[in-house]
Amino acid sequence: MKPTGPIPEAFASNDQLIIGRKTVQELIDIAVDTPFFAYDVDAIRQRIGRFRAAFPNVQLHYAVKANPHRPLVRAIAAMVDGIDVASEGEARLALDAGMTSADISFAGPGKRDRELETAIRAGITINLESEGEAQRALAIGERIGIRPRLAVRVNPDFDLKGSGMKMGGGAKPFGVDAERVPALIARIVAAGADYRGLHIFAGSQALMVDAIVEAQASALMLAARLSNESQVVPPLVNLGGGFGVPYFAGDKPLDIEAIGVALETALAARDPILTDSAFAIELGRWIVAEAGVYLTRVVDRKVSHGETFLVVDGGLHHQLAASGNFGTVVRRNYPIANALRFGAPVEEEVSVVGCLCTPLDLLGNQVGLPRTGVGDVIAIFMAGAYGASASPQSFLGHPVPVELTIDGDVIL
Ligand SMILES: Cc1ncc(COP(=O)(O)O)c(C=O)c1O
Repeated sequence: MKPTGPIPEAFASNDQLIIGRKTVQELIDIAVDTPFFAYDVDAIRQRIGRFRAAFPNVQLHYAVKANPHRPLVRAIAAMVDGIDVASEGEARLALDAGMTSADISFAGPGKRDRELETAIRAGITINLESEGEAQRALAIGERIGIRPRLAVRVNPDFDLKGSGMKMGGGAKPFGVDAERVPALIARIVAAGADYRGLHIFAGSQALMVDAIVEAQASALMLAARLSNESQVVPPLVNLGGGFGVPYFAGDKPLDIEAIGVALETALAARDPILTDSAFAIELGRWIVAEAGVYLTRVVDRKVSHGETFLVVDGGLHHQLAASGNFGTVVRRNYPIANALRFGAPVEEEVSVVGCLCTPLDLLGNQVGLPRTGVGDVIAIFMAGAYGASASPQSFLGHPVPVELTIDGDVIL
């Protein structure tokens, strides 16, 4: 039997798994059919409350790429200070969710002129990824007679150690190399743009407190150095994010309270040029991953060369990450359970495979479950981030999954 990741504590059960205040059977009746995603808003609310307590002097921004499901974004928009978007589509989503344009920031390489223009017209802050992009944004602002809100995304000279995805340190397509940033700040200020500050995002999915503390301290020092060199005060310093979540056996939840204590100390001792700056942390998966479950029904049970396979009606076309094909080097099992017999003990070893005819469509490799047969429903946890929107939904022409956003008794 191979190990599986830890099931998030947020979920209660009687005999069945309960999400929000609904049993899985009630949710199946609402979704009409499997497979579907269920997101628990209350779990998100509790997490954001935890962040607020740990970081009383820091803004929280939601990276909407983690989960752009409309009702969920609307719920989250009311609880955070800003939303980070990576395309015109996400920008419109954030605006539709009720976020004030001044609190939306647009990062990401390859912004087209049309996207820059939409952002400038809406008053969204553009996190500039290059000098070329700065030039285009300034020219568009001039052409349409609107002063653009511009921040500079820095390619820091450090990375986030132990992170699943490094986005700084060395040659990167993201941001402007730190040593060229002061000149760029001077240029956009001289051109009359509304300078909004610095965005320093060093990496993603880190589970080590020390690594995040070190990256935040480095980001703070770098922001001070660049601001002193340019002699311009940044209204906002976005210190990045990178808070990871426990997907796999042995992963431990992040002690964000320890990070908060360290950051408060670092902020109290910050360079005078940053005295009046505001600070933000930008998080995607930490806010939503544990709040989501993917539910898929067993349609066949078969044996091949002594190994039992449960074939389900979902698969990697909805939940690519659980199959190990979304940026993981070694495939490991996400937390998985029989949702209708949630409390039952492990009785057998099975492999849970999706309905796509590719060996990549493996959702649980030799995992332990209670006796599970055709008609049972499998829950795959940690599905709230990079699930439906980060999976190849058109592949093989199966229907798109239903997504249910649950707030207590209410489906949003
Ligand atoms: C600029 C930026 N912000 C936020 C995120 C979200 O990261 P996570 O979901 O790990 O918090 C990413 C992820 O790639 C990113 O590139």
